[in-house]
Amino acid sequence: MIETGKGAEATRSALLDVLTRSPAKRRPMWFMRQAGRYLPEYRSVREQAGSFLDLCYNPELAAEVTVQPLRRYDLDAAILFADILVVPHAMGLPLKFAEGEGPVLGTVRSMEDLDRLRPVVGTLEVTQVCRTVALTRGRLSAHLALIGFCGAPWTVASYMVGGGSSDRVMAKVAAYQRQEWFCALIDRLVKESIDYLSAQADAGAQAVQIFDSWAGDLVGTELEDFVIKPLAAIVAGVKARHPTLPVIVFARGVGMAQRRVAAIAGVNAIGVETEFALADLPENIVVQGNLDPIALLAGQDVVAAEVRRICSSVDRQRHIFNLGHGIRLGTDPAVVGAVVEAVRRCDG
Ligand code: CP3
Repeated sequence: MIETGKGAEATRSALLDVLTRSPAKRRPMWFMRQAGRYLPEYRSVREQAGSFLDLCYNPELAAEVTVQPLRRYDLDAAILFADILVVPHAMGLPLKFAEGEGPVLGTVRSMEDLDRLRPVVGTLEVTQVCRTVALTRGRLSAHLALIGFCGAPWTVASYMVGGGSSDRVMAKVAAYQRQEWFCALIDRLVKESIDYLSAQADAGAQAVQIFDSWAGDLVGTELEDFVIKPLAAIVAGVKARHPTLPVIVFARGVGMAQRRVAAIAGVNAIGVETEFALADLPENIVVQGNLDPIALLAGQDVVAAEVRRICSSVDRQRHIFNLGHGIRLGTDPAVVGAVVEAVRRCDG
């Protein structure tokens, strides 16, 4: 059971308090990619599992790496260990993570490709991920929240169209051309994402985050139709089944359009990229972010100054401390510890 940290006397995570706008005992904090290769204990379990995907689908080992960062750091939440590409994999596309090269995924570039895909609920992949959720929840004490997640339709579709590549040119062309199969793929991902997040909530996830890592690719009507509307449909669908489940939307890189993301009905908080100042958003919004993960490579003094700047720019009752993107490979675990201490000192 993970129960270390000063938050341990609380019975509910400060993360859930801030997300539901209840008075929180402290500024909640967690980090995107808090479990991962920068931690030696992660590398050791990953080796034991075999491949990254074997780790994702092994509930015992995935639960272990999910809780690892909470043993080291005084955080308020764990995030399920899995990947946004679990959804296309469960839908039937072949997936491989080539060592040092990133994902290689089967492609969807026509209506026939789309018609071959199956629903995610009931697949071995999603069943195993939900087992990880249940196992992990059982290992966390009450003051630590468990966050579930999925990728957003635009981001996941960009990997499905590009075969796992982070090059979004083909997906963007299909979006501009309003290809029928592309619009149908987005709609299909909305439906599968609702089912997937609902299954995670049923298994014990207490909040969910939708990762739209490439949302900043689009503007105007494309942003509206392929980012904002699909996100709104997922939030509505999830809330229809789980009315009290808090939802965080991370539409990375949209800048001023973060206001539109925040205005989506049912959104409890928005994740904000490093490149946009939290203080420039309206004060009625709960914001998550946005320390630069690259600042963590610049050493403890830089990090302490950045933490002070961010914490003094937004009231702790509406701020979830996090990074503007995931922790980078090569980050010193001691610097992550320094971030945690700096945040606690700011509010001390
Ligand atoms: O945040 C967490 O700690 C939870 C687990 C998590 C992972 N990926 C684990 C992972 C989450 C939430 C993700 C999301 C994800 N995956 C996104 C959206 C967020 C973002 O970073 O923009 C995206 C685009 C992916 C797709 C993905 N997964 C890529 C492109 C890669 C390869 C590049 C890389 O960083 O290695 C992955 C692999 C991956 N996902 C790793 C981890 C810990 C590294 C795999 C390993 O152990 O070798």
